[in-house]
Amino acid sequence: MRVRAPGRVNLIGDHTDYTGGLVLPMAIDRETVVEVEAHDAVELRSSDEPEAVVLPLDVTDPSAVRPVWGRYVAGVVSVLRPTTGMRGVVSTTIPIGGGLSSSAALEVAVALALGFEGAPLELAQACQRAEQVATGVPCGIMDQLASASGVAGHALLIDCTTSAVTPVPVPDDLEVVVVHSGQARAVAATAYAERRAQCEAAAAVVGPLRAASLDDLGALDDPVLRRRTRHIVSENARVAAFAEALAGGRFDELGPLLAGSHASLRDDFEVSTPALDALVERLAATPGVLGARLTGAGFGGCTVALAERGSPVEGWRARAAGRASRC
Ligand code: GLA
Repeated sequence: MRVRAPGRVNLIGDHTDYTGGLVLPMAIDRETVVEVEAHDAVELRSSDEPEAVVLPLDVTDPSAVRPVWGRYVAGVVSVLRPTTGMRGVVSTTIPIGGGLSSSAALEVAVALALGFEGAPLELAQACQRAEQVATGVPCGIMDQLASASGVAGHALLIDCTTSAVTPVPVPDDLEVVVVHSGQARAVAATAYAERRAQCEAAAAVVGPLRAASLDDLGALDDPVLRRRTRHIVSENARVAAFAEALAGGRFDELGPLLAGSHASLRDDFEVSTPALDALVERLAATPGVLGARLTGAGFGGCTVALAERGSPVEGWRARAAGRASRC
């Protein structure tokens, strides 16, 4: 069996998924491929890793598995509990640990290779749980759902309260440009959990953040929780406005929304870094670039820019790819 699963880049809407908010990722034309045959355990080799992963079907603690890349595989095995294992090879064109959801793509590919038969949302939910048990990071569903439900040529407007996925065409005259900040995401794991806990603390006061408005900020005494909530409320509004402007061909509205998202992630959610800020500023000042922002969890990793086709801006041009599949 041969399976492929794409990575993702998020155009706008970060740290909103785990609060039931709106996100607009797209699956990208960089993917992880798993080729396997049936076996009585799980044995995977990777062309990018020196050590193979060997796991029993009843693996119990994915977060302790070695080599470390095997934790994602073990997470999927522990969530799906397959009765038949597999033996084979993994390869990927997604930069590993580069903010383009290489781990989500590996989880989705492994789940399909183990015979998972559910709908894309169920696949994403199983893989989200796998990521959580593998890493201890209380991630949202965006990365796995983008890989599981990508549509070629489209970004995906995802409502993380209803789980509805609405494809939004990405016009041919725009380019999605991804640039890595050069900074690895060292503190992401702990600070991510802290941000999520802060959002939950705010929701305990004002109710679900998806339904909150800027008027609710006054009910929050803690200035940090006020800032976190202001990011979530304003980011949801930006995602909705961005998706509408993109679908309506009103490209002049996109840049300010990207800039607003970056500023909010920097000032209110505090997940940017000086390296990301400097890169976003440089990209935004390049001719033909409509706007730029950090993308994903932040604390390093990648930026995304939207540019008119033919802009001289440096970076990798991502194209929107179709969803993970057996092939
Ligand atoms: C990581 C998580 C996602 C999402 C983003 C931030 O990629 O895995 O669920 O929360 O960070 O938007």
